Amino acid sequence: MRSSTIHNLLIFVVLTYPIASTAFACPFTAKWNVSIISVVPNDLVVHIKSGGDDLGKNHTIPFVGNYSWSFCDMLGDHILFYGYFWWGSKFQNLYLFNEAISDKFFSDVDIEHCYWFVKPEGFYVNNLPSGGGEFIKGWD
Ligand SMILES: *[C@@H]1O[C@H](CO)[C@@H](O)[C@H](O)[C@H]1NC(C)=O
Ligand SMILES: *[C@@H]1O[C@H](CO)[C@@H](O)[C@H](O)[C@H]1NC(C)=O
Ligand SMILES: *[C@@H]1O[C@H](CO)[C@@H](O)[C@H](O)[C@H]1NC(C)=O
Repeated sequence: MRSSTIHNLLIFVVLTYPIASTAFACPFTAKWNVSIISVVPNDLVVHIKSGGDDLGKNHTIPFVGNYSWSFCDMLGDHILFYGYFWWGSKFQNLYLFNEAISDKFFSDVDIEHCYWFVKPEGFYVNNLPSGGGEFIKGWD
């Protein structure tokens, strides 16, 4: 097969997997699990979009609660996830998954992890669930 045919086939296979299911494999690409952990008092509201696809609805995450989803990354052309956050009167939006995050955290394990910690001072990202990580952005 020509490589473009293989590429199209892979995209077909990848897109055929349900985005939010917990039990699925990614035979040709990395499987990622992105978690958002709220460390802000009171409810945090998040809306996640991927490319042109709006992943639907708002999620409300209580203090120390979390929301996570899994997906198969693309070969070469990484999947993008973008998040919109509301906390009381504060708002922020940022990339939750892109090529930079993939390059930074990819460690060739069964499930690659990316954890976002949303704190009163802003947004941190880490590949460990224990907290800390790199400060990315404050609130607007
Ligand atoms: C999500 O929540 C925000 C903040 O409460 C609100 O402004 C927005 O309209 C909501 N979006 C949807 C799709 O419900
Ligand atoms: C997310 O919440 C679940 C249910 O409370 C908990 O078991 C899990 O440890 C939490 N994950 C993180 C990364 O905090
Ligand atoms: C993502 O990983 C966490 C463990 O860090 C797990 O609790 C959660 O269920 C996973 N989410 C999905 C959608 O697989």
